[in-house]
Amino acid sequence: MTDILELPLDANEIPVTPGLEEQEGYAPLPLRNLTVGWDVPFDIYLKIKKAGDTSPHFVKGCARGEAFREDWHEKLLQLHIPCVYVSLAEMDQVMQYLHHNLEMLLADESQSDQEKSLRVYDATNMWTPNFFNSEIARTGEQVKLALKFLDALFEGIESDRRIILYLMEIRRHSFRLSNHCLNVCLLGLAFSSYLGWNREDIRGFGLGALIHDIGLIRTPRTILEKKGSLTEEEMSKVKRHPQEGFRMMQDFVQLRWEALEMVLQHHENGDGSGYPRGLKGNAIHPWSRILRILDSYEAMTAERPWRKAMEPRDALWTMHSDWKRSKVFDQNYLTTFIKFLAGK
Ligand SMILES: [Fe+2]
Repeated sequence: MTDILELPLDANEIPVTPGLEEQEGYAPLPLRNLTVGWDVPFDIYLKIKKAGDTSPHFVKGCARGEAFREDWHEKLLQLHIPCVYVSLAEMDQVMQYLHHNLEMLLADESQSDQEKSLRVYDATNMWTPNFFNSEIARTGEQVKLALKFLDALFEGIESDRRIILYLMEIRRHSFRLSNHCLNVCLLGLAFSSYLGWNREDIRGFGLGALIHDIGLIRTPRTILEKKGSLTEEEMSKVKRHPQEGFRMMQDFVQLRWEALEMVLQHHENGDGSGYPRGLKGNAIHPWSRILRILDSYEAMTAERPWRKAMEPRDALWTMHSDWKRSKVFDQNYLTTFIKFLAGK
């Protein structure tokens, strides 16, 4: 079979918008992550929709083990194809390739901090759904890899805090659980560094934020994506996710205990109205109290299938008025977070 990159391509045949490809067994990989001339240890796919087809399908673009050629790269660029696809079954190889690529890039002084951060973001963005959804991928080695990514992201943020805003803009258009977690993690890295924490605490907090909702993979998708309000029974299923997540992560020695508290307590409210235990005020770990704020802010400013995203300005106003009145959020951290967002 001839691989499709050897054939003339017609731009009209290739839908370029990434959607929920995971359901079909594929994940989008932004083109910038492929290095021309390097052997690619996994199959590369393109998403093709031919005239008359009802839905797109995935076609192999180049086979595993082949070097990624300059003319293929040119062809994809000319067609404005922003990403290729990889099979979820080959994520192990993909992660190794990205990691190796990153080591080279991060050591390269001619590359900008922005470019470096973007590529670490891509790698973390591939890591997260893989770690969430694949039992096999959920290893201590993978957690160590995530910590490396967080270190690199932190360095980008330290060099320029605006990088966070730039990275968070990328996500606006996709709704995925792992993407929400990654955004909360980015906010967490920036906010904890704003608070003047040491590096160990920042990466520990970042990791907790990155996996805080992992328990939701046990909640049926139909409930997570439901447009109307949830029934009591559905709600009680959703409310199990902090404990589910805690159970899934408790044996990982690479995870700080405070990060495990984040998983377990991020829906506890200061006034005792939260779950799973209805804890109050200082009985909730400070890291969980911070995460409660970041999590709500991210959810409020992200687009969902059933509503538009709230503008950051409006979100700030809501926090100033509604959130300040409620006893749900830790008032000190909330005030500091508002200042942080306002760039003060
Ligand atoms: Fe949650």
